Amino acid sequence: MNDRLIYQEKDIADNSFSSSIGFEAAQQVVEFPKNLEGLTILDIGGGTSTVTLELTGREAKAIAIDYRYGNIVDLRSSVDRYLSGDLREKISEAQDEQSLKIILAPPPGTNTKSWPISIIRAWAELKESTAIDTAMENLSNIRFFAAYQRGQRPYVAGTASHLPFADNSVDFCFSIRCMVPFLVQNRAVFIQSIIEALRVLKPKGQLQIYPWVDQNSYFPQDIKQNASYALSLLRKEEVPFLVETTSQDSLPRLRITKP
Ligand SMILES: C[S@@+](CC[C@H](N)C(=O)[O-])C[C@H]1O[C@@H](n2cnc3c(N)ncnc32)[C@H](O)[C@@H]1O
Repeated sequence: MNDRLIYQEKDIADNSFSSSIGFEAAQQVVEFPKNLEGLTILDIGGGTSTVTLELTGREAKAIAIDYRYGNIVDLRSSVDRYLSGDLREKISEAQDEQSLKIILAPPPGTNTKSWPISIIRAWAELKESTAIDTAMENLSNIRFFAAYQRGQRPYVAGTASHLPFADNSVDFCFSIRCMVPFLVQNRAVFIQSIIEALRVLKPKGQLQIYPWVDQNSYFPQDIKQNASYALSLLRKEEVPFLVETTSQDSLPRLRITKP
């Protein structure tokens, strides 16, 4: 991957939000293997979710990777801002791009021209349409930091397109609310992140991405095109995949199986 793409991925990551899905909600959108014991499982864009801790408690070797694990203060402020609820309500009330940018109050030095407003809007709608409950997210967030302070840290700082793991070393990968709706904004970055997950997966290992881009949904046109392009590449390379519905949710998930 060239420097320009690395920069673009960091830009997307800087402008993303962190959130904190709990295990129960995660089980509704990702189908985890039934027998977890001894499996190496990777959460791409884990935020302050407790899924990794729960999987570890079930005897899996679970690890989460996130861009913000390199800066825990940034992680905490990103998730606090999101969980405060203000952001979500204000986003849905905003009438135009300018007011959205004001609400989001970017930190000094942020190039707001690059802010993906349509994504922020899509994010607010995603939040409304899923079963992911804010109170449960708050709880998950508290548990994440309590475990972190106790030194329980199966967390690796890094980006989805450069996973610091060996080829064929992971049994199961998943990404909830990270590869989509964030990485999918940039076709090359998104494709690279899928290739990277397939590189680290063992043969027959799965990558599950939630949500997947429903062509009838609120996702902007360029994202719909990037998503269909990714599927066309998988088809061409004869990598099996399935777009499927999840329990209690209207949004689909993508399941890719490494041949
Ligand atoms: C909305 S949160 C999702 C957290 C968790 N999976 C959940 O559903 O609650 C998205 C996370 O992806 C991380 N992220 C964004 N771009 C990334 C990238 N390119 N590589 C790794 N992590 C990234 C962000 O730092 C953020 O914590």
